[in-house]
Amino acid sequence: MYFQNKLVWITGASSGIGEYLAYALNEEGARLVLSSRKTEELERVRSRCKNPDTVCVIPLDVSDQDAIPKAVEEVISSFGAIDILINNAGISQRELALGTQLSVDRQIMDVNYFGTIALTKAVAPHMQTRRTGQIVVISSVMGKFGAPYRSAYAASKHALHGFFDSLRAELYPDGIRVSLICPGYVHTNVTINALRGDGSPNSVMAESTKGGFPPDVFAKKALRVIKKHKREAIIAKKEGLAVLINRFAPAIFARIARNLKLK
Ligand SMILES: NC(=O)c1ccc[n+]([C@@H]2O[C@H](COP(=O)([O-])OP(=O)(O)OC[C@H]3O[C@@H](n4cnc5c(N)ncnc54)[C@H](OP(=O)(O)O)[C@@H]3O)[C@@H](O)[C@H]2O)c1
Repeated sequence: MYFQNKLVWITGASSGIGEYLAYALNEEGARLVLSSRKTEELERVRSRCKNPDTVCVIPLDVSDQDAIPKAVEEVISSFGAIDILINNAGISQRELALGTQLSVDRQIMDVNYFGTIALTKAVAPHMQTRRTGQIVVISSVMGKFGAPYRSAYAASKHALHGFFDSLRAELYPDGIRVSLICPGYVHTNVTINALRGDGSPNSVMAESTKGGFPPDVFAKKALRVIKKHKREAIIAKKEGLAVLINRFAPAIFARIARNLKLK
């Protein structure tokens, strides 16, 4: 019953994790706002939800900071309040640091970090007024360590932890709770949509991603984390061990990282 009638805004809802969070949340009675850049894909997701009448599509490119205030106004004027914001939109990377053009580093930061914090800064004051709300961020295990071919991606996800750990403390007295969820491999299009060093799409489905959690299974686990207001959660198979090794034996992890084949 936790999600019954709650208004949940999901970014990156046209595909993968965001898409399956939408199905799972709508199944549990949540009303949804689905956002991303591809309107047709969002409509496809809406039509596949259990109760499409309770689902609204609002296209939004989170890296377009001028578009954010208008989108927030539209959600507030249509629904009155946002109970849960799920910042899920993101893009990954498949290139060595020195082979990645600076414009691509910026693009990844613009979507994964600045897009996420810009939307959060626009939504959180509405939650403050009501003295309730939840902000959820889909980070990554790459938010907890760095590895070859992921420099910009890992940097963007690490930045989210710094920002949202701070914000969690600041918004606690207002009754707002912040959860950072760090997925390991989830079988989505993330590696196909990942950027190469010149900004072109990787267009390859990685075997590791194929072997990850199916997105519906991941979504159910994520809903449990959100319900419990967990501060941070790793949802991963054995790749989650890397987070523990990096935390408790960083010198050993540094040696392992050199040999990781993540291309
Ligand atoms: N799958 C994994 O193994 C994995 C592991 C760790 C973390 N994650 C994280 O999980 C999140 C979701 O990724 P996914 O695996 O579901 O990959 P995905 O299938 O590629 O989905 C990415 C979503 O982000 C949206 N998006 C991309 N750029 C956007 C922008 N500028 N503005 C708004 N939306 C944008 C895409 O929609 P449009 O193209 O329609 O804009 C799409 O809905 C990401 O933050 C990713 O870093 C995934």
